[in-house]
Amino acid sequence: MKIAIIGKIHQIGLEILYSSGSLVKEINQTDTPSLIDALSDVDGIILRTEKISNEVIDNCPNLKIITRHGVGYDNVDLNHLNSKGVALGITGTSNAVSVAEHVLAFFLQFIKKIDLSDKLTRDGKFHEKANLPDFFELYQKNILILGFGRIGQAVARRCLGFDTNVFVFDPFVDEKYIVKMGCQPISKEEGLIKADFISVHLPLNKKTLNFISLSELKKLKKNCILVNTARGGIINENDLFNALQEKLIAGAGLDVFELEPPQKNHPLFTLDNVLLTPHNAALSLECRMRMAKEACETTIFYLRKDNNLNLDNIINIKDLNY
Ligand SMILES: NC(=O)c1ccc[n+]([C@@H]2O[C@H](COP(=O)([O-])OP(=O)(O)OC[C@H]3O[C@@H](n4cnc5c(N)ncnc54)[C@H](O)[C@@H]3O)[C@@H](O)[C@H]2O)c1
Repeated sequence: MKIAIIGKIHQIGLEILYSSGSLVKEINQTDTPSLIDALSDVDGIILRTEKISNEVIDNCPNLKIITRHGVGYDNVDLNHLNSKGVALGITGTSNAVSVAEHVLAFFLQFIKKIDLSDKLTRDGKFHEKANLPDFFELYQKNILILGFGRIGQAVARRCLGFDTNVFVFDPFVDEKYIVKMGCQPISKEEGLIKADFISVHLPLNKKTLNFISLSELKKLKKNCILVNTARGGIINENDLFNALQEKLIAGAGLDVFELEPPQKNHPLFTLDNVLLTPHNAALSLECRMRMAKEACETTIFYLRKDNNLNLDNIINIKDLNY
C-alpha cells in the first residue's frame, strides 16, 4: 500500500504506517503540479489542512481513500470523491475534547481576565485589586450551542459542569436526545436573544456560510461572548468586526478565519475585545497523537478491508464491499 501524508502528523502515526508495511510518502510541496506528480501512484492520502483540487484527484488512478487528520472536510470536494468512488475518512473520536476545552478557555479568559490579575500581582499592586475591571461567573448564565454533534455535545457537558443553562440549536438532532443530555432545544432566533455565551459547532457549507451576520449580531445581548472554533465564514467576519467595534456584543473568541492564515493587517487585530488563536483548538499534544493514530489506522483498515475499521469514520462509503 502506498500512502501519502500531506502536512506533518505526530510520529505515532508514521510508526503505525511503517509497521503495517506501507510505503509512506511525506509531502510538503503542495502546488498542483507537485501534488499530481507525487500522488500519481498512491492508494491512500492522509490530509491535514491543505486543499486538494479535483484536478489532483483526477490524476490519482489508484486512490481509494483520503483520510482527514481532523473532522471538517471542506478542503475536499465530497461530491467529486463520491463520483470517483474514493472514500473520505475523518478522525471522528479524536478531537472533541481538545476543541471543547479551547472553547471553555475562551469563555473563562473573557470573564476572569486572568492576564490582568497576573500583571497587577507581578507589578506589586496586590492591594490595588479593586482597580481591576469587574469579572464575572459562568454560573447560571445562558449558553447557546449551535450544532450538537461531537464537539457541541462535549462543550455542553463541560458547560453543565459549571451549572449553566445550556440551549441547543440543531434541527437535525432529536429534541428528546438534547433534553436527555441535560440541555434545552431552542430556535435559532430565540437562542440568539437569550444567550450570554454562544459557541459555534456547525460544518461549513452553503447553508451555514454567513450563518451569523449583522442581522443576527444585532439580536445578541450586549454582554454576549461569541466563540467560533468551527470554520471561518460561518460568522461573517466583516459584520463581526463592526459589531465588536460598535460594542454590540462584549467579545468574540476566534480560532478560525475566512482566509487562513489571516492577512497581517486584519482589522480584527486592532480590537481588544476579541481573542484570537491560530486554528489550534484541536492541537493539544494528546489530540495530535489521537488524530495521527486514528487517521493512519482508518486508512490502513480501509485499504485492507479490515474488520477493525470504524465505519462511523467513513463519511461517504458505508458498504465494506466497495
Ligand atoms: N478549530 C478546530 O481545530 C476544529 C477541530 C475540529 C472540528 N472543527 C470544526 O467543527 C465542526 C464541528 O465538528 P463536529 O465534530 O462536532 O461535527 P459533527 O458533524 O459531529 O456536528 C455538526 C453538527 O452540526 C449540525 N448542523 C449541521 N448543519 C446545521 C445547520 N444548518 N443548523 C444547525 N445545525 C446544523 C449537525 O446536525 C451536527 O449535529 C467541524 O465541521 C469542523 O469544521 C474545528
